Parts: sequence; C-alpha cells; structure tokens
Amino acid sequence: MPCSISPGKVILFGEHFVVKGEPALGLAVSLYAKVCVEYGSGKIYSKNLGVIEKDSPHYPLFNRIMTTIDKRYGLAKPVDIVIESSIPVSSGMGSSAAVAVATTSSLLELIGVSYTRRDIWEIAHEAEKAVHVNPSGVDTTLSTYGGLLLYRAGEFKRIELSLPKNVSLVIVNTGIQRNTGVVVREVLELKERLGVVGDYVYKAAGSIIDKALEAIKASDPHALAILMLVNHGLLWAMGVSCRKCDDIIYELLDSGALGAKISGAGRGGIIIALVEKSRVNEVFERLSKRYEIYIAEPDYHGVRVL
Ligand code: PMV
Repeated sequence: MPCSISPGKVILFGEHFVVKGEPALGLAVSLYAKVCVEYGSGKIYSKNLGVIEKDSPHYPLFNRIMTTIDKRYGLAKPVDIVIESSIPVSSGMGSSAAVAVATTSSLLELIGVSYTRRDIWEIAHEAEKAVHVNPSGVDTTLSTYGGLLLYRAGEFKRIELSLPKNVSLVIVNTGIQRNTGVVVREVLELKERLGVVGDYVYKAAGSIIDKALEAIKASDPHALAILMLVNHGLLWAMGVSCRKCDDIIYELLDSGALGAKISGAGRGGIIIALVEKSRVNEVFERLSKRYEIYIAEPDYHGVRVL
C-alpha cells in the first residue's frame, strides 16, 4: 500500500505585492499531508473530513487526479484513497496542493510507472485547477519540491539556501477564514486609490526580498525577523491585517519571538513567527492555551514515498 507525504507551505515575504509583479518568497514547512492508496472499491476517506462522496466539494480534486493519470498512463482498477493531514485547511498553507501532490505520488507508485517530480507537479497542478480559480502553482511547487521558492510574475526559482539553524517557525492559526479573491481585489483597489504612495509601499515590499535573501545567506535571524515586521507593517498599511492578527503578533513578540507577520492573504488565516529554538517551548506554552499553534521547521525535500 504506497503512502506519500508532502509538505504545506508559508509565504515568508511578499504576498499581495506579488500580484503586481514584485517578488515573493515561499517556504515548504514540516506540516504534512499523508496519503495512502490501494486497489479497492473507489472509496476516498479523510481522517479529518470523513468519507468524501461524489457530491463533496473536495471530490473534484481527486477525480481530476484520477482522470489525468488515467489519460496519461491508464488506471486499470478503482482505488481507495486514505488521507491524513496535519495542515490546517483554508488557512493559506496549501493543504489542498499537499493532498493533491501526495495522492498523485502514491497513485503513480501504485500503478508502477516510471515518473519524475515534474510529472507529479503537472498532475497535481491540473487537479488544483479543479478546486481553485487560476492557481498560481506556488503551493504545488513547494509541496512537490520543498525548500525556498522565489517567485515573480509567474516564474519560479528554487533558492538553494537554508534558514538559520537556531530558529524555528511558529505558526498560529487565527481561525478566521477569509476569501483570498476578495482580499486581493480590495488591496488592489486601495493601491489604485493611493497612487504614488501605493507605488512606494509596493517598491519597499519588493526590496525586502533582496534584504531577506542577504539575511538568509548570512544566517542572520535577527535581520530576517525585522524584515518580517516591516513586511507586516506594509501589509497592515494595505488593509490586510486584523485586530486578532495584531494581538497574536504582540503576544508572540512579548513571549520571545524575534519577529512575526501575517502569511498569505491575511485578514485572518495564519500568523508566522521566527523564534529561537531555545525559546520555542516558552512561546508554545504561552500561546497554545488560547490558539491553535504549530512549531514547524523548513522542509527541503518535498514529496516523498514512505
Ligand atoms: O493565503 P494564500 O496562501 O492563498 O496566499 C495568497 C497570496 C496572495 O499573494 C495574497 C495572492 C496570490 O495569488 O499571490
């Protein structure tokens, strides 16, 4: 019974600004979707969501994977799929892409064809189109290949660097779900209204990426953390924060985090913080009573068969 795991992701820098051509930096993180498959009766079962029936909004993702694989390689018999994911859903962490990538990987193992990571990416990206309008491919790319990804104007570049070893990422789920499309549209409207002021905000956000890459190269978590706060300030200026988001950021900083910011579309979703490993337990203890909180490390491997 082949099983695969694939990582979720966070956006370290540049969300929203990337929509207007500035660069952004994403990172695959150690929260995983695990998917096992075997020949059976065509049942899809998620440990979080229960049985996924044909009328479920989640069904099209799996259906598209199976029809795409069938077209490419032939999928002789019905398969059962079992999903177990620790990636929070609808929070901007790419849970559907991770499930799509892990499902594709396990199915290709099951049918025993030879395949590359690029094949997994293509099939999972096709499946993402069945559930998201116009997916950028960022989530699928990070889930497939892992690591750090610089992207700009639809172009992806894997960055062969590692985050400083003495820090972890702490991820707090605000529990506020929002519609990415609506937030993106409102941010773009505000940018237009702001005119040249908006242009400066976007330029500043773009130049954060160069500084962030320098900080990563120099293995300097303090420099990286300040840039996260500045990036959050720019997102705040564009109306992307929320009261609970800012409360959580202050609590993270008060408990010892070096820096923190919204990650993804904002107005809720997740907050990410950079925390020295020696202080992670303290931060976790202080916030876990009231929030859903995860300690994560970068994942530099992407999808793998277990
Ligand atoms: O919350 P997420 O991971 O779906 O990220 C949205 C990122 C935006 O920059 C706000 C939109 C986009 O398509 O890049």
